[in-house]
Amino acid sequence: MDDAGIFKIRDDLALIQTVDFFTPIVNAPFEFGQIAAANALSDVYAMGGIPLTAMNIVGFPIKKLKKEILKEILRGGLDKLNEAEVCLVGGHSVDDEELKYGLSVTGTVHPDRVIANSGARAGDRLILTKPIGTGIIATAIKGKTASREAEKKIVDSMSALNKDASEVMQEIGVHACTDVTGFGLIGHLTEMLRGSEGGFLITASQIPHFKEALQYAAMGLVPAGCYANKNFYQPRVEIKGNPDIDFANLLYDPQTSGGLLIAVEEKKADPLLESLLTKGIDAATIIGEVIHSPKDKIVVHYNSC
Ligand code: CO
Ligand code: CO
Ligand code: CO
Repeated sequence: MDDAGIFKIRDDLALIQTVDFFTPIVNAPFEFGQIAAANALSDVYAMGGIPLTAMNIVGFPIKKLKKEILKEILRGGLDKLNEAEVCLVGGHSVDDEELKYGLSVTGTVHPDRVIANSGARAGDRLILTKPIGTGIIATAIKGKTASREAEKKIVDSMSALNKDASEVMQEIGVHACTDVTGFGLIGHLTEMLRGSEGGFLITASQIPHFKEALQYAAMGLVPAGCYANKNFYQPRVEIKGNPDIDFANLLYDPQTSGGLLIAVEEKKADPLLESLLTKGIDAATIIGEVIHSPKDKIVVHYNSC
């Protein structure tokens, strides 16, 4: 399954549609709104599309929470839509036991220029554009253990649009892309592996991550979704070297509004990385490569961690 649905209208025009919503992961309503919008737009960016319009989806406990909270959430969402130059055209809200917010997004893409999550080829380099560990830090926030700095770091990262990264990869031309979200890094690598040649070799020490996430993982602040991802995806993984248990958890940590995971031809990898860094996407790193064998495996190499 790809990140968004594609519907071809003409030979030179396809619609791209996606929807995403969830319960709050940070305390400030405005920031939650920003993150939800950045996350909803991300699937369009991952597929090489241009988002054009969006609609709000709201579940709100009218009797339990003040209306100002909802106003702030919607203001946060609109802030990101404005930054993305996407037009809010409507929405729908219901009275709900639990607060939920997200958006449906519609965009366009040239049918020949859709970037799918399949199509990585042997020799390709794998690039990740945001650090991992937001799920573990969000768990620490809920447990009132996270430092304000850690919270600020993940809010900045999760609310950052994947727009620039998407534009840069479209310009240079890549083989495959997906955004890293609920299935964690290994889960999304697995999705990419399904339609790719060979296997993946990942270098653990190269993976951008939040240091605090390692710290909180060591304290046991690991979300249930992380264990679920681990159970499901671990059979694909082969370990080389001495694994670090806390770092291993990070690899399965469900992300919200994570970065783009891109497979790009070797000779284009450095130019792509340069352009990403020039655009201020500081976390962008080559985390591994596509190898001929072992086929259908993700080899995670821990070099003296
Ligand atoms: Co996605
Ligand atoms: Co999605
Ligand atoms: Co309605």
